[in-house]
Amino acid sequence: MTANATRGRFVTLEGIDGAGKSTHVGFLAERMRARGRPVVTTREPGGTPAGERLRELLLGEPMHHDTETLLVFAARREHLARVISPALARGDWVLCDRFTDATWAYQGGGHGVDSARIAELERWVHGGVHPDLTILFDLPPAVSRGRLERAAANGRTLDKFERESDDFARRVRAAYLERARAEPARFRIVDSTRPVETVRDELARIVDAL
Ligand SMILES: Nc1ncnc2c1ncn2[C@@H]1O[C@H](COP(=O)(O)OP(=O)(O)O)[C@@H](O)[C@H]1O
Ligand SMILES: [Mg+2]
Repeated sequence: MTANATRGRFVTLEGIDGAGKSTHVGFLAERMRARGRPVVTTREPGGTPAGERLRELLLGEPMHHDTETLLVFAARREHLARVISPALARGDWVLCDRFTDATWAYQGGGHGVDSARIAELERWVHGGVHPDLTILFDLPPAVSRGRLERAAANGRTLDKFERESDDFARRVRAAYLERARAEPARFRIVDSTRPVETVRDELARIVDAL
């Protein structure tokens, strides 16, 4: 994975809203710790004080899709500089709920932002840091919609993206799957229509093989 053997691994979780990323992030971190890996768990947009304030804007406020893309990458610049890069340099593992694949999927696939612009920002902001492994929680939008509606009925307020149409979610999912096809060595696609325990078993196998 890297020339520097002491560098930690960078693992990202991706998938449409309601796919199960937040459900499984704690389990994944514990599984890694049980195998002796120091783990930093974080999320995007967010992960830093400035990033969390940008998250509030991004998930709550309608805006031009280019503005959204720029703010996502602004939060990411902060996240890489303050959290992700220092953790990897210490030898910690980083487990991140969403990263740049989400920008390709949501702003690119969902909103149609020009891929050349996303690629340029990615080059600028990443500075050579890329995930070693990306777990893509995959399921049809109709299934995630049902889960989100149940969560909403139980009192959870849905954010801007969770309220988007199923057609939007279909474009996001297609963009994620296209990225997974383009980089099969980095991605593991997990069928998230299955019960939580079944998904968990597969995640344990993925982590144990790292
Ligand atoms: N495998 C599953 N089967 C049934 N419901 C699930 C499953 N995984 C997650 N859920 C439920 O679906 C909802 C969305 O899950 P969540 O982990 O918040 O998704 P994400 O973080 O990917 O948006 C939650 O209410 C969660 O309890
Ligand atoms: Mg989540």
